[in-house]
Amino acid sequence: MSTLIADTQQTLTRIAQEFTPAVFASSLAAEDMVLTDLILKARLPIGIFSLETGRLHKETLAMLDKVKEHYGYEIALFRPQTDAVDAYVAQNGLNAFYDSIEMRRECCRIRKVEPLSRALAGNKAWITGQRRAQSTTRSELAVQEDDAAHGMVKFNPLADWSEQEVWDYLRSNGVPYNALHDQGYPSIGCEPCTRAVQPGEDVRAGRWWWENPDSKECGLHMVDGKLIRIKSVAA
Ligand code: ADX
Ligand code: SF4
Repeated sequence: MSTLIADTQQTLTRIAQEFTPAVFASSLAAEDMVLTDLILKARLPIGIFSLETGRLHKETLAMLDKVKEHYGYEIALFRPQTDAVDAYVAQNGLNAFYDSIEMRRECCRIRKVEPLSRALAGNKAWITGQRRAQSTTRSELAVQEDDAAHGMVKFNPLADWSEQEVWDYLRSNGVPYNALHDQGYPSIGCEPCTRAVQPGEDVRAGRWWWENPDSKECGLHMVDGKLIRIKSVAA
């Protein structure tokens, strides 16, 4: 077994032992399926949840059943507050996120960030599938971070993994994955804000493709409203 996998298993075991209770935020995309496989096969006491924004692709939603069939595990779902979604849509329209970064961040705040704070409440640590190589905003990502905004420790156990290593793991372990990955989607978020990319294009080029690469974070990974790992972005 590669040391990369062994190291990641060790990180997850340490989290389960030293940071109880801990939870894993899964977007149901490739990286998160690696972590799902490692957590569930080792039967670690780490709960898995997804933020069901109400705007996910049917292929992403289908992953919930695939995980249930493959592992016998039901991923917990956190949804946005209906009142907040209704107010945003009534005031701005259903797809106002295309109009400005502010409108986009407000939609992400309502559909992802607020539900995330409910999903994390009461935990000592949370886990994400972020990798350093994914984008300029993640180039300084550490495996362990202090998440002051949520008052807990945040782990990115795949920080060192390459995209190739993710796919080697999924294939050699027969892990189920989102069908969109075979249709040109290396990175998958909400349906209206994600599109396929051309071979050779940046892996996150299809996310919020109308925005500058430095603004492409949804707020799940910000601290005090700032993209802490990026120095060129004004707070
Ligand atoms: S995003 O933050 O810009 O959407 P990305 O899609 O690369 O980022 O996901 C990075 C990590 O954020 C995932 O590995 C996962 O831990 C978490 N995440 C993103 N979207 C969701 C979601 N809908 N539900 C739960 N976790 C999510
Ligand atoms: Fe809204 Fe798009 Fe953010 Fe999803 S990714 S919450 S649809 S702005």
